[in-house]
Amino acid sequence: MRKQTGGGIASVPTAPEAIRNADTHYPYRPDSHFYYLCGFPEPEAVVVLIAGAAESDSKQILFCRDKNPEREIWDGFRYGPDATREIFGFDETYPITQLSAKLADWTCDQRAIYTPLGLYPAWDNATAATLNEVRSRVRTGIAAPETVIDVRAPLAAMRLFKDKRELELLRRAALISSSAHRRAMRETRPGWYEYQVEAELMHEFLRSGAQAVAYPSIVASGPNACVLHYRDNNRQAQASDLLLIDAGCEVDGYASDITRTFPVGGKFSGEQKAIYELVLAAQLACIDAVQPGRMFHDYHEVAERVLAQGLIDLKLCEGTLEGVLESGAYKQFYMHRAGHWLGLDVHDVGLYRIDGESRPLEPGMVLTVEPGCYIRPADKVPEEFWDIGVRIEDDVLVTAAGNENLTGSTPKTVADIEAACAR
Ligand code: GLY
Ligand code: MN
Ligand code: MN
Repeated sequence: MRKQTGGGIASVPTAPEAIRNADTHYPYRPDSHFYYLCGFPEPEAVVVLIAGAAESDSKQILFCRDKNPEREIWDGFRYGPDATREIFGFDETYPITQLSAKLADWTCDQRAIYTPLGLYPAWDNATAATLNEVRSRVRTGIAAPETVIDVRAPLAAMRLFKDKRELELLRRAALISSSAHRRAMRETRPGWYEYQVEAELMHEFLRSGAQAVAYPSIVASGPNACVLHYRDNNRQAQASDLLLIDAGCEVDGYASDITRTFPVGGKFSGEQKAIYELVLAAQLACIDAVQPGRMFHDYHEVAERVLAQGLIDLKLCEGTLEGVLESGAYKQFYMHRAGHWLGLDVHDVGLYRIDGESRPLEPGMVLTVEPGCYIRPADKVPEEFWDIGVRIEDDVLVTAAGNENLTGSTPKTVADIEAACAR
């Protein structure tokens, strides 16, 4: 029987364009895995990596759209295969129209296919078609791969550790988002609608060179601050409200994710300040727990302990610390996790547990630290606490020595926030 001699073939397509309505598309965003591998920005492209028997036989190939003078008059520049090979440094490039024929040829005698499975239905069909084409040639003496592996798992493991270039982009995104939050603190006035604040954030993102938001900005005043993924951004903010802003831009594909909470009128009330200081204490303790060798899960437990004790001290929870942690009574006010990986995706890829156990933090990982506390009228607590929603979120790099807060230039103490809101 003929043996599979190839070391494997990986094919990773970029994202399809998405229709918004009629003939209008959403702004195009490449697939994160594809972009990680090659940085090519156009739709209708597939990167193919072939592992030869020897490393020198390995190849990096890109399929992309041909040049098209007619379409370029309407829609703008396309690289085309020749310029793509020069500029992006591929070994070979081809028009996307040649993909299925070449992929079938190259898949013959390969041990395994590495490709995303279940991500894009049209691509799943293309993968099945490639396999069937190769199988149909078995009588000519070639062998078909016996294994198809979801390439997203190995890519996720690689993407979890950020290299120097990725950290540069994450830092740029973090700095721009930080200045956008400062702008929001400076400009917001009582009586402004939440969308007016959103416009200030967007203004700062785009004028500073970010291409997009990393996720829809959450601009949540008063009771809306207690809605974790609030979307409407259409309420008029009152002087007595807190305003919770969870917003971050994207720079060359890399996300930032910052939350700050500030008083619309410029000064915290006593109760607002008490909750704010509690969340801040939890957040600072969490950042301290981001250390190489500590478990990912540790900082979530730190957040739970600090918040639970604070809620007891403020008489918002009853009982002992261990009792409140055991019963989960604090979850009425803090119901999400303390953070997530950050990278090309705001909720970035990478396993949180290995063999069922929380994984240790290692240098090069980037994560958010974002405890919060949310008090609703239904929570049966004194009225002065109602509609106080506070979350504080920074983006933190694990380093060999400890950690580096990439978003540390965003005002965070009560004094710094009130100063940033002063006019
Ligand atoms: N902005 C989404 C999150 O904080 O997870
Ligand atoms: Mn986050
Ligand atoms: Mn966030």
